[in-house]
Amino acid sequence: MDRVYIFDTTLRDGEQSPGASMNTAEKLEIARQLVRLGVDVIEGGFPISSPGDFESVRAIGDAVGDAAVVCALSRAVAKDIETAAEALRGVARPRIHTGIGVSESHLRDKLRITREEAVERAVAAVRLARGFVEDVEFYAEDAGRAEPDFLYRMVEAVVGAGATVVNIPDTTGYTYPEEFGSLIAGMMEHVPGIEDVTVSVHCHNDLGMATANTLAAVAAGARQIECTINGIGERAGNTAMEEVVMALKQRADHFGVTTGINTRELMRASKLVSSVTGIAVQPNKAIVGANAFAHSSGIHQDGVLKERTTYEIIDPREVGVLESSIVLTARSGRHALRHRLTELGYELDDATFEEMYARFLTLADKKKQVFDGDLEAMMADEAQRAVEVYRLEKVQVVCGEPGIPTCTVELVSPSGEHLVGSAHGDGPIDAVYQVISKLVDVPNDLTEFSVNAVTEGTDALGEVTIRVRAADGRIFTGRGAHPDIVVACAKAYTNALNRLIVSQTPAVHEEL
Ligand code: KIV
Ligand code: ZN
Repeated sequence: MDRVYIFDTTLRDGEQSPGASMNTAEKLEIARQLVRLGVDVIEGGFPISSPGDFESVRAIGDAVGDAAVVCALSRAVAKDIETAAEALRGVARPRIHTGIGVSESHLRDKLRITREEAVERAVAAVRLARGFVEDVEFYAEDAGRAEPDFLYRMVEAVVGAGATVVNIPDTTGYTYPEEFGSLIAGMMEHVPGIEDVTVSVHCHNDLGMATANTLAAVAAGARQIECTINGIGERAGNTAMEEVVMALKQRADHFGVTTGINTRELMRASKLVSSVTGIAVQPNKAIVGANAFAHSSGIHQDGVLKERTTYEIIDPREVGVLESSIVLTARSGRHALRHRLTELGYELDDATFEEMYARFLTLADKKKQVFDGDLEAMMADEAQRAVEVYRLEKVQVVCGEPGIPTCTVELVSPSGEHLVGSAHGDGPIDAVYQVISKLVDVPNDLTEFSVNAVTEGTDALGEVTIRVRAADGRIFTGRGAHPDIVVACAKAYTNALNRLIVSQTPAVHEEL
């Protein structure tokens, strides 16, 4: 069977989701999981856009070695391409991804250039990139809305200039499957030299058709798919890796292609990306949603109990849904905890494990049983400490009716000073927000606050996600988990502010 290459852009397009910005350590953690998944290409960032993106591409290149191609994005602009090449210096399998808009809308209203000028810039960009690396991918931005004959002319020109991969993005998620499939089929038929390069597709999900469009393109001859874990990405997101990969696997009878993805790592990747970005996975999400393998109606339950395949087309183990026979309680030892954490994909050094074991025992004392969700929330909470500027020491809340909800907090500042303050609010959560805002004086607006019980029962861990908008409009996400949701809220808000503070290094912002 033909091989379809998987190009993951969670760390670039995925990171463009509001509030999903990741630091280099978090990107590296995800990059390692992408290697475990077996992706072919990792798009690590857009180096000209910020020093953080530049650094991430370099660090991912070091960490990944020759296990995958590492790709850096650029516009068809010399400075972008030179910066991408610089970030990729020393990377074992480097790729520069460069491109330009091809739709009338992009040419006329964004770039304000003619078609001829666009072709010239594209050819120059590909030639320049080829001077730095052997592997150059060209993207024809907004190809989904482009006039096909012009798109084909552009593709022919960049193939002639040395592009090794040609990416046809449906940037605005505008097309429907037959239309997008025909666009690719037309290209395979009409562009001389197309058989010598890999045709890639990059679909956005504005009309909910990203996965369907991608599959139609594969049926028409595309052999690289650009996608993200959980489908995160600009606006409505990108094609979800778990969906296309499982569709190609389950329906190999129809598509006749394979990928190199170890599907048993999909669930772990989904949880990791959700935990790092703070973007929850909707329960009914295909493949990785909490309900994807849950059977609720009596008729379905009866069927599944008799024979799983009556209502289940995928064996949950195929995507890494684990069933555990070990029950973790306050009596569980280090060995049992280590074993379960490893099964869930966490490899901890001894010092971190000891900290987690102590936290586990505290939690297990409060709860009868500690579930996978509790462990994942604990690990996500632990990961937030990587961006610790202010440390939360104490939280105390007084509330009730009648009464004035009041919160007292003690924080330790970066210089080690203990800051104590109190404030009242409309409710206990508002009081937490008021007092921490007073102690950490950084302007921001709270844009989202959500609480989620990670397991069932009144003793469940509460996981709070908070998003704040900084004065420059950027969104930062903070998370916190604790059996007391007020404490979880204080942790989440402190974490969001820490991320905001850390990000306030000078950055060059370039718009795509
Ligand atoms: O959606 C898009 O067109 C992109 C390109 C930069 C590949 O993300
Ligand atoms: Zn995109």
